[in-house]
Amino acid sequence: MSIHRIAAIMSAVLLPWATAQAIDGPGLAAAQHIAYPAVIAHRGASFDAPESTAAAYALARELGADYLELDLQRSSDGALVALHDSNLLRTSDVAQRFPERKDRPVSAFTLAELKTLDMGTWFNQAYPARARLAYAGLQILTLDEVLDIAEANPQRVPGLYIETKAPKLFPGIEQDLHDRLKARGWLDMPGRVVLQTFDRDSLALLHSIMPQVPKTLLLWLGKGYVEPAEAQTFAESGETDRAAFLARQHPKDNAEFERWLDYAKAGGAMGVGASVALTGGGDQSYANLVQPSMIRNAHDKGLLVHAYTVDLPVDFQKVLTAGADGIFTNRSGELQRFLGRSLPQDEAPILESLGY
Ligand code: G3P
Ligand code: CA
Repeated sequence: MSIHRIAAIMSAVLLPWATAQAIDGPGLAAAQHIAYPAVIAHRGASFDAPESTAAAYALARELGADYLELDLQRSSDGALVALHDSNLLRTSDVAQRFPERKDRPVSAFTLAELKTLDMGTWFNQAYPARARLAYAGLQILTLDEVLDIAEANPQRVPGLYIETKAPKLFPGIEQDLHDRLKARGWLDMPGRVVLQTFDRDSLALLHSIMPQVPKTLLLWLGKGYVEPAEAQTFAESGETDRAAFLARQHPKDNAEFERWLDYAKAGGAMGVGASVALTGGGDQSYANLVQPSMIRNAHDKGLLVHAYTVDLPVDFQKVLTAGADGIFTNRSGELQRFLGRSLPQDEAPILESLGY
């Protein structure tokens, strides 16, 4: 066991949520180089700055996040870019700049075209209390630019937690990812990169191309994924509160959940990313796949569990007490404070010192 990991587990002893189970940590060989509990900045520090932009990633770095999370897609001319959605409508001005292609995926645009988009103004409009003039005009980032941000402060170099998003739309993206990471020397540092995907075929490809890099299979309850007990989908239900609907869902039975843990193992994953039903609901609240028995089951199979996507102390407490080994969060600072980790400054002065 590395000194780093022993220190991380020792520090966990002091934490408010530290139950005997959590103090023990996963105790898994797979965890050797993975921060524990892992603070994974979901699309960067995306509560305080526009998701997947330089502001969000630089803020997460300065907040000491262990990993910068990004969803990887590819432009028509082969550039790897960070974007979550299947098109640019929600997080850019694509409807104004390219009205005829506004709902097309990034693969319908060259990198030069993508770079003309304003990825920040939508945030200022959606969240006026957190708006900053300097967010207007922020650009989409290439993978290389995210790596540049991660490397920019030698005192705080986070890892990258990279998802192949909708990989069937981007054949060969796993090899492209390997090539960029290798060119940048990021494959030489154990645990510095974690790969994640909802797609079992992409997991197998990632594992064949980068066998030494830790990977997680993302778990989702629904058609084509972990089979739910209830056949009716949210759309079919006629309900209006998606979070409330999803929070009531659960796997068909234990064997079904275990089947997906076995898929993760067989695909070469060292862990799973599991969805969380959030106390306050919202559009990132899903089925609860972090029940203590589920996490015990994963640990028994030698798998880590990273929970997505959790922003409030009440939910940090819940998932860590249940035994989760890390958390995807839009609020890295909030999670760092909850874990008792020291922060140089709060979010606002950091953003100001970064020029936002
Ligand atoms: O990657 C973990 C989590 O980000 C999965 O959900 O939809 O935010 O990519 P999503
Ligand atoms: Ca993701």
